Amino acid sequence: MAARIVTRNPEQDPSLSSKPQPDRSTELQHLAEAACHRSYAPYSRFHVGAAILLESGDVVTGCNVENASYRLTTCAEQNAIAAAVAKYGPAIRIRAVAVANLAKAPCQPCGACRQTIAEFADRDAVISFPGDDGLTVRRTLSELLPAAFELKEL
Ligand code: THU
Repeated sequence: MAARIVTRNPEQDPSLSSKPQPDRSTELQHLAEAACHRSYAPYSRFHVGAAILLESGDVVTGCNVENASYRLTTCAEQNAIAAAVAKYGPAIRIRAVAVANLAKAPCQPCGACRQTIAEFADRDAVISFPGDDGLTVRRTLSELLPAAFELKEL
C-alpha cells in the first residue's frame, strides 16, 4: 500500500505550534469532541460536547441532553458547568471552554450558555468552537458577551 503524506499546518492545529497554550485549547477541544459521543439528542440529532478548564487545572466535560418537551433541553456547556459545580463546589472559576459537535459544523455557544459561562468566568476566559472551513475559533468571553447581565445589590 502506498504511504500517504499528510501535511499538518500549525496555523490550523495549535498543538503543532511551539507557543505555550495556557488555556490548553487543543486538549480541551479533543475532550469536547469525545463528549459529543455521549450526547442525548434524538430530536435535533445535533450532538454537542463541551469541556471546561477550571482555574484549579481540573477539566470537566458535558454534553447536550434533549427532552420530548423541547424547552427542557439542556446545552452541553451548561451541563458541563453544572457537573463542575456538583463536583468541585460553588467557588469554581472557569479559565477556558471548548465546544464541539459531531457534525463538525460551525457553531458558537448560544446566548444562554454565554451568560452561564459569565457567571463563573472572568472576561478574558477563552472560548473555542468550530468555525468556518473546519478551523477552531478562539474568542474571549468579553468578545462573545460584551454586555452580560449582572445582578447589582439594591
Ligand atoms: N446546543 C448546545 O448544546 N449548546 C449550544 O450552545 C447551542 C445548542 C444544543 C441544544 C440542542 O440539543 C441542540 O444543540 C440543537 O439546538
